[in-house]
Amino acid sequence: MIEATASAPSKFVILGEHAVVYGEPSLTLAIDLRFRVRLRYSDAFRVNGQTASNRNTSPHMRYLYDLHGGKPVSAYVESDIPSGSGLGSSAALSVAFAAALQALEGQPLDRAAVAKDAYEAEYYAQGRGSPMDTSTSAAGGGVALNMPHRKEDLLWTISKEDRTWEVSRFDTPPMTFVLGNTGIRAATGPLVDKVRRYRESNSFAAGIVDEIGDVTRDGLRALRAGDLDELGALMTYDHKLLSILGVSCPELNSLVDAALPYSYGAKLTGSGGGGCMVALTDRPQQVAKAILAHGGTPYIVHTGVPGVTVSTREAGQKQRHRGRGHHGEKKNADNRR
Ligand code: MEV
Repeated sequence: MIEATASAPSKFVILGEHAVVYGEPSLTLAIDLRFRVRLRYSDAFRVNGQTASNRNTSPHMRYLYDLHGGKPVSAYVESDIPSGSGLGSSAALSVAFAAALQALEGQPLDRAAVAKDAYEAEYYAQGRGSPMDTSTSAAGGGVALNMPHRKEDLLWTISKEDRTWEVSRFDTPPMTFVLGNTGIRAATGPLVDKVRRYRESNSFAAGIVDEIGDVTRDGLRALRAGDLDELGALMTYDHKLLSILGVSCPELNSLVDAALPYSYGAKLTGSGGGGCMVALTDRPQQVAKAILAHGGTPYIVHTGVPGVTVSTREAGQKQRHRGRGHHGEKKNADNRR
């Protein structure tokens, strides 16, 4: 009996959330909070040993199971990623399941194929959105959408309806980021819908979305120049633009304000409405303290982490790794158990 194990990272957004849905650029970094799944074919659908009647799991899993012929599988899952927090927990789940299901069918790891299947699962589950989260989780490291890039940095291209996203890799200078979680869970779909309605009904809102695109392009120039003052200022400005679009909240604003005295810049990350903010800083301990003092949960995150990894084994034997590239993990989670 073959068993496949996959591990996929979460992410945060340096710049570009919401506007990326309309084909504007984005800059994201994968982080060291991961989702892990171990899968094998079974006589019934199970999650962590519990029978899941009617594949009554998540719509992402349902979509991916159907894509792979609907054979019952038993899944063991574990996650470091707080859900509904803007860190791409459902994208990491989709990426890990897509990779593990492909591996169960005997396919070698193909991160482009995983990114595409996982994006379709996200689209099925939460409607109109971009492939930013799923592509970052599949690729790892630093991922740009719709940005100028060197030919060798192009990872893949994803199209949906009238929109196309070119996904490329970017390098970062050494930087430290601190996340602050408000603890308020907010689903992505309704926030994406809110911005869509505002943008469609109001040319001022459409202009804000375009401006987020310009700020994000400026952000890549600042990153390439290693200009953290400029990058931080752009992040803080982006937070104001996102607030005008109505996707911030008092708790996020309070954590951003608390972090700013010790940071180059700070902003909400992900879809907003709650969830996390992120600060670029060279004083992570002070930022973490300020976030804590204002009721948030801080995480000093590590970037430069591998994208999805997968391994297979005959149950009871040593694992064979398929996911090692220059971003490959040396060990995956199940080896550590
Ligand atoms: C969610 O992490 C990011 C959004 O831009 C939605 C998307 O890109 O699908 C708000």
